[in-house]
Amino acid sequence: MDIERTDINAEPPIEEPARQYYYIGKCRQYVKKFFDEKGRSPSACVTTFGCQMNARDSEKLRGILREIGYIEAAEDKADFVIYNTCTVRENANTRVYGRLGQLKPRKRAHPHMMIGLCGCMMQEQEAVEKLKKSYPFVDLVFGTHNIYKFAELLAARFESVGMVVDIWKDTDRIVENLPNERKYFFKSGVNIMFGCNNFCSYCIVPYVRGRERSRSPKAIVQEIERLVSDGVTEVMLLGQNVNSYGKTLDTPVSFAELLTEIEKIQGLKRIRFMTSHPKDLSDELIAVMGNSKKICRHLHLPVQSGSTRILEKMNRRYTKEQYLKLVEKLRKAVPDISLTTDIIVGFPGETEEDFKETLDIVRKVRYDSAFTFIYSKRTGTPAAAMENQIPDGVIKDRFDRLLQEVQAIAKEVCAVHEGSVKEVLVESVSEQDPSMVTGRLSNNLLVHFPGGQELIGSYMNVRLRECKGFYYIGDLMGV
Ligand code: SAH
Ligand code: SF4
Ligand code: F3S
Repeated sequence: MDIERTDINAEPPIEEPARQYYYIGKCRQYVKKFFDEKGRSPSACVTTFGCQMNARDSEKLRGILREIGYIEAAEDKADFVIYNTCTVRENANTRVYGRLGQLKPRKRAHPHMMIGLCGCMMQEQEAVEKLKKSYPFVDLVFGTHNIYKFAELLAARFESVGMVVDIWKDTDRIVENLPNERKYFFKSGVNIMFGCNNFCSYCIVPYVRGRERSRSPKAIVQEIERLVSDGVTEVMLLGQNVNSYGKTLDTPVSFAELLTEIEKIQGLKRIRFMTSHPKDLSDELIAVMGNSKKICRHLHLPVQSGSTRILEKMNRRYTKEQYLKLVEKLRKAVPDISLTTDIIVGFPGETEEDFKETLDIVRKVRYDSAFTFIYSKRTGTPAAAMENQIPDGVIKDRFDRLLQEVQAIAKEVCAVHEGSVKEVLVESVSEQDPSMVTGRLSNNLLVHFPGGQELIGSYMNVRLRECKGFYYIGDLMGV
């Protein structure tokens, strides 16, 4: 799309993405005005709260800001601060209000500063009401469904006074071909679907991200081909439940079929995906994983609880036994696969017996790592109305016991690779030691080894010298 040739004095186009490029052109006028007045370009910072889907959305926002003419800056220096919010647990919301409170005096001292809020929390009516009432200094509020309209909304803010708010309840559209900015030149997230239809009883995501919508296989493959020609060798396919990909397309396509198409893309070396829901993990998919040369030896398979009784109340639609059977099949097809998971502690009605079932499944599966969460009551979800909410003290005790178990097992599981030589994709210079670089194995484990910046983006063979619990110290063996 050629923004230079878009006539911003004409009426805005109706079709997308042309309309957004028109508004990018409009916003550029304001950036130019800023430059003429202050002798510098305005700066912006997008801060992500939440999951990889949000991180990917933030890259899209950064791409649009770059096209408009903003330069990136740290949050405490930026003229435009944007929070891409999460609401999966209550503490995610609390953090946003805390950070907004800190921005208030800064904005008072620098009235030209702008604050934007978007993401999942904005899809909650209460949150938006609270912002209007208690945080009127916020400039721009939009949600998850209309994020593609960022340039248009920003233009509206430039042309008005006061807060611009635009929240949609739902959408069935997907706008392709908008700008975006990648964090890493060699790897990228790729959305394959949006929304979620599962309605796990504790979870707010289906309410804030809307119904499941899959991108067409053609659009996905084209995006990945473009990324590969631009230097990307690893992609992470993103969706709340990638295993149900394609079911709602006019011509249904399975996730296994999509993977088979992506595998054919020349120059692509690694394929990752998340998140997989156990109920939709098909034998076909397991077979594709077993035969693939590119799909990474790692699967994130959230279990949430080991108790079939609780799983039923959670509306997860699998039993403990079915989950264990799935793990057995996966390990048979992909013997070196690393498994990770999410677990919720303290779901309403969880008894000590139920909790012991969770400890038991953790011991049986022996996860490489697990994200453990304290149950958080989300208004509007069925679980919030359930009886027998568990007291904080009981939850804390179970949480600590679970964490101990998870960590002890992860340490043992991680150590089995000691001494072996594995291929590593080098991602960055180590944060702790600038003479070392950090890379990732196919199974998602991190390795630090002596090396320099020039290795970033390369695949190197590394001997895993010493296991440090959740990561390795290694030595470079060659390409
Ligand atoms: N779609 C993914 C997960 C998205 S949310 C899936 O189904 O696996 C990421 C994780 O947050 C979930 O796996 C769950 O463990 C946790 N989570 C979601 N809602 C929660 C809540 N109300 N309280 C605590 N943890 C929650
Ligand atoms: Fe939430 Fe369940 Fe959907 Fe995951 S699958 S986003 S946990 S409702
Ligand atoms: Fe949070 Fe929204 Fe992701 S609620 S976990 S950012 S989908």
